[in-house]
Amino acid sequence: MLIRLLRRGLPPYAGFLAAIAVLQLAGVIANLYLPSLTGRMIDHGVARGDIDYIWRMGAWMLGVSLVAIVAAISVARLGSRVAASLARDARAHVFDRVLSFSDREVLHFGAPTLITRAGNDITQVQTVVTMLLMLVVQAPIMMIGGVIMALQEDAGLAWIMAAAVPLLGIAIGIVISRMVPWFRIMQDSVDRVNRILREQITGVRVVRAFVREDVERERFAAANEIYTGAAVSVGKLMALAFPIVMVILNVSSAAVLWFGAHRVDTGQVEVGALFAFMQYLLQVLMAVMMTTMAAMMIPRAEVSARRITEVLETDSTVVDPADPQPITDENAGVELRDVTFSYPGAEVPVLDGVSFTARPGTTTAIIGSTGAGKTTLLNLIPRLRDVTGGEVLVGGRDVREASLEDVWSRIALVPQRPYLFSGTVASNLRYGDPDAADDALWEALRTAQAEDFVSRMDGGLEARIAQGGTNVSGGQRQRLAIARALVRDADVLLFDDSFSALDVATDARLREALKARTAYTTVIVVAQRVSTIVGADQIIVLDDGRVVGVGTHDELLETCETYREIAESQEAGGAGGAETLAEVPV
Ligand code: UTP
Ligand code: MG
Repeated sequence: MLIRLLRRGLPPYAGFLAAIAVLQLAGVIANLYLPSLTGRMIDHGVARGDIDYIWRMGAWMLGVSLVAIVAAISVARLGSRVAASLARDARAHVFDRVLSFSDREVLHFGAPTLITRAGNDITQVQTVVTMLLMLVVQAPIMMIGGVIMALQEDAGLAWIMAAAVPLLGIAIGIVISRMVPWFRIMQDSVDRVNRILREQITGVRVVRAFVREDVERERFAAANEIYTGAAVSVGKLMALAFPIVMVILNVSSAAVLWFGAHRVDTGQVEVGALFAFMQYLLQVLMAVMMTTMAAMMIPRAEVSARRITEVLETDSTVVDPADPQPITDENAGVELRDVTFSYPGAEVPVLDGVSFTARPGTTTAIIGSTGAGKTTLLNLIPRLRDVTGGEVLVGGRDVREASLEDVWSRIALVPQRPYLFSGTVASNLRYGDPDAADDALWEALRTAQAEDFVSRMDGGLEARIAQGGTNVSGGQRQRLAIARALVRDADVLLFDDSFSALDVATDARLREALKARTAYTTVIVVAQRVSTIVGADQIIVLDDGRVVGVGTHDELLETCETYREIAESQEAGGAGGAETLAEVPV
């Protein structure tokens, strides 16, 4: 997966990669050259007291070191730059993907994990890529070159190298392979911690109201504990790795000195060569250590890469058709033909054989008990989801045949749980139409019965709106969402239970104002209160996903048992009706 992700992401940076490879090559050659220079300086300069030679060698070494330093710095800079760009691209891709997702894919993943994947997981990959870029050319050359150079200095001590290198590789390998399972646990528990935290922040009022703080605190603590436990286990193993490395490095240096000294005594090798041998041995061991570490970090990045690729390779179930047809018939309104819809995995369809036509300039109301499928039905019209049977037509065209852009540009939806973005009242209203003038915004607010409270807000149109619209009341949020839809000036207006938070008088005024504005618009209103829809041109009564009655208020009172029951139950409750005010719509 990591390879797949890299193959997808790295090509644009081929130039940088080539530069990194060349620089690493230069750096590693310089590093391999240095010990042999030191050796010669000791043997020919120091041993013979040739000060001139020492100076010459010294200058030479300085030059070589400079090359090594410049190469190392440039590799680090370029490497992090490439890794960071790669991460940026990956984030952009994930973001684009998620934006293209329909309801169904978003629900399949869930928001918290999508956020972790776009953030934490990409950072994991970035870290490993940075590391790999710095090692990929350097480490193998360093290992092989180091061994060759060392043997040239003194082949008699080769056995120390033959013992130390595998020992180090295996020791670190064992330690780090025990970390790998913890990496998986860590990544999953980041998800869990995020999810719980998010849920608690979103639902903080509910938590308070039901005095569930202790329970929630424990729930969070448990998830946090798992994450901490995994991180501590990884940390402990890391802590174990360093002493092991140090012991092996130092023991092998001591061995070189011990056995080398005898060889110097017997004249088999010179002091300088021995010194160089030791330097090479350390270089090789370092390279082995770094490679093992990097190799062991790959599984962690692999976990993250899989999680990222999963998002990137999930296709939205709602996509543009290959050959989009334009929507041409402005007078056709919205038509549903024998529509059936089932949620994925559900056995019974939520909508079953629903047919009706909503004409421009008329208002169609949909009423039914909770869970009857009203929201589901509305979501099918702008293709938030696709029907599983039958057709939805907008402007005479099956919505699946037209381009998404074309469909969406004709429809304005006020969702049941309206969401406002952080910004100002104006910036939210202009979601409907970015070019709308202030006058048009006020006009829409007036129709939505929101003019009063907006003009009283600090700053009017420029008043601040918090994320999700949590700093206005539920009813105010609903009215702003209505105004936002009106600004759009769409052919089709869909209201999903948008009047429920309004008192009966405001509700009536709003409907009156709306009527004046929507002479050519197809309006579909989902409502809970019969009083909201008495004036509708056509009322569709939904019961358990089926249409059980179509007609005007008076007709339905005569003909439709379900409708009569709803109407009677609400009369009995006075002005009542369900005051469903959805809290914090996140
Ligand atoms: P709806 O959300 O369409 O009902 O769900 P509704 O008529 O609008 O209800 P209210 O008035 O707003 O409360 C219809 C059915 O679809 C299922 C629900 O279980 C519900 O019974 N459903 C809804 C899912 O299975 N998955 C979803 O994502 C949403
Ligand atoms: Mg609903």
